[in-house]
Amino acid sequence: MHAIVADIDRPARELAGARGIIISGGPASVTEPTSPAVDPEIYALGVPVLGICYGHQLMAKDLGGLTSVSRGVVKEYGHSSLTCEKTTIFKDVPDRPITVWMSHGDTVTSPPPGFTTIGTTDDCKIAAMQNVDQRLFGLQFHPEVVHTEFGTEIYRNFVFDICGCVADWDPRARVEQVMDDIRTRAAGRKVFFLISGGVDSTVAFYCCYRALGAGRVLGLYVDTGFMREGDGEAIEHLVHEAGREAIHVADRSADFFGRLAGVTNPETKRAIIGDTFISVQEEEFLHLGLRDAEWMLGQGTIYPDTIESGGARHSAKIKTHHNRVERIQALIEQGKVIEPLVELYKDEVRVLGEQLGLPHEVVWRHPFPGPGLAVRCLCSETTAPVEPAAMTLPDGARGWIVPVRTVGVQGDERSYSKLLAVEGFAEAEAAGAFARRITNEHRTINRVGVVAFRRAGRGVEGLAIHPATLTRERVALLREADDLVTRLVRKHGLYDAIWQFPVAMVPLGAAPGRETIVLRPVNSRDGMTADFARLAPAVLEELAATLGRLDGVDAVLYDVTNKPPATIELE
Ligand code: XMP
Repeated sequence: MHAIVADIDRPARELAGARGIIISGGPASVTEPTSPAVDPEIYALGVPVLGICYGHQLMAKDLGGLTSVSRGVVKEYGHSSLTCEKTTIFKDVPDRPITVWMSHGDTVTSPPPGFTTIGTTDDCKIAAMQNVDQRLFGLQFHPEVVHTEFGTEIYRNFVFDICGCVADWDPRARVEQVMDDIRTRAAGRKVFFLISGGVDSTVAFYCCYRALGAGRVLGLYVDTGFMREGDGEAIEHLVHEAGREAIHVADRSADFFGRLAGVTNPETKRAIIGDTFISVQEEEFLHLGLRDAEWMLGQGTIYPDTIESGGARHSAKIKTHHNRVERIQALIEQGKVIEPLVELYKDEVRVLGEQLGLPHEVVWRHPFPGPGLAVRCLCSETTAPVEPAAMTLPDGARGWIVPVRTVGVQGDERSYSKLLAVEGFAEAEAAGAFARRITNEHRTINRVGVVAFRRAGRGVEGLAIHPATLTRERVALLREADDLVTRLVRKHGLYDAIWQFPVAMVPLGAAPGRETIVLRPVNSRDGMTADFARLAPAVLEELAATLGRLDGVDAVLYDVTNKPPATIELE
């Protein structure tokens, strides 16, 4: 048995041989005439169909008419409690409401003829529906994200019980399959890799090295100036495995800082970094005397990078990943790029890394974005003071709108909204619940940070955003903060328990040049969705006090927002 990912408008006749069809979610509204549509004949193929989120709404519209779906008034993002009936699709779900993950604006208001409602939440009366006779199913929530309890079981029930598929694949065959693909794609050519020391590029490089052998793979480690403390050491392992001649190290930080001078917009920063990577790679390529035709470019792109860059045809662009900028796209079209992990999620990359025998510290290193600390060091063109929040806060809590925007994802679309700093919550859990509510109600806010430290005598009300760009000094301060956090997190034995712990910096302070550090620990399975990680009060206190001792730091915020509505990185 195998699965294929098809475009939504694939003609029904081409899907007639399928054991089952899943219509995925997406950012569009089915109420718009130009929105993606399936060939309506797929419902009559006699093949089981499962609609998820947008797919659920589309099924309702296709089979019950436009009046079956209403354009969202209340938008619902985050955890909801689902009460469901014991039907085949919910076979293994216990007899209690379960937590499901919602991210939608539109809502199904009446089941199409022949359908019955089999699941409800407080805000969504038709959260699950089915037409048993025709084997058609719709779910408003997302079973594919880890925050949905029993999501895997729900898929299992659909795939095995309803579609009658058999689990006849062996995950160990993955390594061989990836290697075979590399050999076929490379077709006698050599592969030139940009490696960062992170999990994805390391595993991708190592796969190519193992598939093609020494002499056909060359890794280039570019020091962009935006690496973490110790990143250089991380590639030592590769040097050890593959030999010194297989890895070339180049300090190109002057190029990156030079081209980013004065730039403040996050997407512009990302585009410049992606572009500079290519120029540097081309220059090093020539410098190393490599001839064009026999070489191709290797990248550690994983599946979520292509989804969130808007690379899947109907997905919205959340942020441009550095390995999907225009010049790379052009190389992809010329067949000059090899991306062995492009169909895998992060957890699958780690399994592959372990199967390849890479060491635990390499495989389980926290993910680090290609553009590195550059996208964790926020910039600003203007000066603007924080403003007291006008919305109602719980008793004893205070809030300030910080006039800096960060990236988020709401209803599968990109948002770029303000940050709310809060004080006075008894515990992180309560602040997190408040963050969920407030980002749902106020679309101008997509992220909430608890004030964990502020310099004595400087209330939050006295802080302002000041003009700042990417300078070596700012990045050095952020690198030091990041290193302190990593050391403390390791000391407390929390490194393996937290999926990723970005440390970001915002030019928020009592005077120009003063900064605020943002702690963004998250738990996730694949980076597509995430929960903010709960830090014990004593650990948070120690982190805040340690960072507060850094010269130039006026405040520390602890980000208590899930993804969605905020993304993991701030920009
Ligand atoms: P976001 O911020 O989109 O992050 O929620 C999801 C995961 O992707 C990582 N990330 C990147 N990785 N190049 C990368 O290789 C990038 O440009 C990039 N941007 C975000 C992020 O660290 C998180 O693990």
